[in-house]
Amino acid sequence: MGRPFCCITALYFLLIFNLTVSTEAGIVGVNYGMLGNNLPPPIQVVALLKSRSITRLRLFHPIHDALRALQNSGIEVILGTLNQDLQLLGSDLSFAKNWVNTNVIPYSRTIRFRCISAGNEVIPGDLAAYVFPAMKNLKAALDAAEVAYNIPVTTCASTAILGLSYPPSMGEFSKDVISVMRSIAGFLAANGSPLLVNVYPYFAYVNNQQQIPLSYALFESTKVVVRDGKLKYRNLFDAMTDAVYSALEKVGGGSVPIVVSETGWPSKDENGGVATIGNARTYNKNLIAHVSGASGTPKRPGNSTEAYIFAIFNENLKPPGTEQNFGLFYPNMTDVYPIY
Ligand SMILES: *[C@@H]1O[C@H](CO)[C@@H](O)[C@H](O)[C@H]1NC(C)=O
Ligand SMILES: *[C@@H]1O[C@H](CO)[C@@H](O)[C@H](O)[C@H]1NC(C)=O
Repeated sequence: MGRPFCCITALYFLLIFNLTVSTEAGIVGVNYGMLGNNLPPPIQVVALLKSRSITRLRLFHPIHDALRALQNSGIEVILGTLNQDLQLLGSDLSFAKNWVNTNVIPYSRTIRFRCISAGNEVIPGDLAAYVFPAMKNLKAALDAAEVAYNIPVTTCASTAILGLSYPPSMGEFSKDVISVMRSIAGFLAANGSPLLVNVYPYFAYVNNQQQIPLSYALFESTKVVVRDGKLKYRNLFDAMTDAVYSALEKVGGGSVPIVVSETGWPSKDENGGVATIGNARTYNKNLIAHVSGASGTPKRPGNSTEAYIFAIFNENLKPPGTEQNFGLFYPNMTDVYPIY
């Protein structure tokens, strides 16, 4: 596909967003998805991120080539576990210790780990019951290793954990996940650790285009779209995030901060004119501006939201269609659209 903007526009955006990102460095991160057979080696990817002043990255599971490339890069890392390891991590402390000794300890002096995430988007589901035991064992394993004892342990959830999400103050966990989420929230609150949540206004919008204005999903609305008591919402990202905050409050997790571990917008395959380069660029540039300001969400004003864009690359081994086109970069490392 071609690029529908001229060089001058590209230069303009490049200048603006280089400024935004480097002055507010460290707030927006990226997800290092690797489901492509044409992606550059990690060492080149780390150089690319550094050249764009991107200082936070999420790695879905330990890839030692990537961890080695990240050593001494100054890039902070969220490290996940494979979902298929959750059961053993939860049931066998020695497995958890071995996981930490293999994947964290060798890098703990050269990489700053933002947190370790037990699994990705397994709640609700067959693996959900293993998440909390896995978190406890990973924490015990990290505590036992002097060099890594202060790395937070958490999990990563999608907004499918919510039974109710609108209006945001009514947000609550669904019946089938509430006991698991109560245990997890208690653990996170006790340890001062964040919950990772994947927040996709794109999917909310495509599934409900009759009711949701596109401008609200793209951070382009100049007026308040949702009034929820005293809280006023101009964008869907904040409304979705606050719905999870409301749900956490209802299970004793009112002090737990949310880190938005994934968000993004696909740039191709249309979906009725929604997944376009223009909309993807608008969403991600507005996201960066939004989380770079110190505004937070209406429920949690004051602290900006830490967020990670999905994803660095378009990934050709994901399911065909929009799923393959969430990248900021093509596999040849040129921008899909200029943003940083
Ligand atoms: C902002 O975050 C810091 C560190 O997590 C916390 O101590 C502080 O209370 C937060 N402030 C607000 C207004 O939420
Ligand atoms: C990079 O890949 C994209 C998508 O395949 C292509 O349009 C572009 O021309 C390539 N750029 C270079 C410099 O090869």
